[in-house]
Amino acid sequence: MEFSLSEEQLMIQQAAKDFAQNELLPDVIERDETQKFPDSLVKKMGEHGFMGMMVNANYGGSGLDTLSYVLAMEELSKIDASASVMVSVNNSLVCWGLETYGTEEQKQKYLTPLASGKIIGAFCLSEPEAGSDATSQKTTAIDKGDHYLLNGTKNWITNGNQAEVYIVIAQTDRDKAHRGINALIVEKGMEGFDIGPKENKLGIRGSDTHSLMFNDVMIPKENRIGADGFGFKFAMKTLAGGRIGIAAQALGIAAGAYDLALQYSKQRKAFGTEISNHQAIAFKLADMHTKIQAARHLVYQAACDKDAGKDYTLSGAMAKLYASEVAMETTIEAVQIHGGNGYVKEYHVERLMRDAKITQIYEGTSEIQKIVISRSILQD
Ligand code: CAA
Repeated sequence: MEFSLSEEQLMIQQAAKDFAQNELLPDVIERDETQKFPDSLVKKMGEHGFMGMMVNANYGGSGLDTLSYVLAMEELSKIDASASVMVSVNNSLVCWGLETYGTEEQKQKYLTPLASGKIIGAFCLSEPEAGSDATSQKTTAIDKGDHYLLNGTKNWITNGNQAEVYIVIAQTDRDKAHRGINALIVEKGMEGFDIGPKENKLGIRGSDTHSLMFNDVMIPKENRIGADGFGFKFAMKTLAGGRIGIAAQALGIAAGAYDLALQYSKQRKAFGTEISNHQAIAFKLADMHTKIQAARHLVYQAACDKDAGKDYTLSGAMAKLYASEVAMETTIEAVQIHGGNGYVKEYHVERLMRDAKITQIYEGTSEIQKIVISRSILQD
């Protein structure tokens, strides 16, 4: 299948590429080392329109299609996956849910500043004892009439400290199991809401990951998204789209590592010739290129399914599963092609290899994607 990109899509792709080269590349190693992502750079991503790409312009977004978003994610991720995960979470996990299921008041109050990049958001589902097994929520949101009383802990939350707005999934009625779960909008600074220390991670070290603690936080009823008990379905539907964003991130990481390996192989000489002339290296590049193209087709297809109003749960899960596996394989090979230099930070591929690993874990591990895929094909 041929994906022919429109003028506008090509323009978005180029804009993301330029932003990545000019704004993200210069200090990417420093951000990885210090685990700090300056607020000024988050603001710049917002000013360039990366934070609410698919949100309607009435709510401060860019009103673009999913394929444009995926193209931008791919370009940003070639250079800095810490930056692109912020973009992915804000677009897919925060803005999409608010725009699709939020009330007009919630959209005015929260979506508009989030989509225009004035503030960023976080999506809080995972818990110390509920990662893959997401229905086992221990966090509670007890109905107190005009408000919910929120108690519990959320883990590994992307944008954990930098966010101003948090969508928190919590159990209201345990007797109703997953049908008794709600999604609540929580603001930073609410009494009883505390942010834990930053996680010291293997990869995407620039991204801001924290645990969050809620101790008798009063959440007004109007901050619930959707009907009572819709929270788990809300999380699943949100994640189905989120997985397309992470698939695009994985694709970008793989493509970024491949570009560096290709370039290096044409310059580095061994045994009297450029290493690309050795079949051992040329075959690695052939495999990498083929797998990346296959992943690209799956990722773009999932985006096109979403844009066409088709069900994208299966195509998004397949795209994430495959692209994240390709990201891991490709980055390992890119380090191998670079030899000793690949182990050194200045050559970028070791960071991409570390960054690739998380794409097989967050927004549903590879094993969870196989559950989603197998259930989908078996029920047909
Ligand atoms: N769309 C709509 N509804 C869905 C759905 C979907 N894609 N998938 C499941 N549901 C609904 C089901 O219909 C069911 O509802 P009903 O009983 O009312 O019909 C309900 O959800 C429960 O579904 P299951 O019985 O299938 O639930 P399960 O316990 O077997 O688990 C699962 C399903 C797919 C494994 C799910 O638990 C899952 O996706 N786990 C992974 C969680 C995850 O991805 N976490 C990532 C955290 S976020 C993150 O990483 C963000 C970040 O920082 C980058």
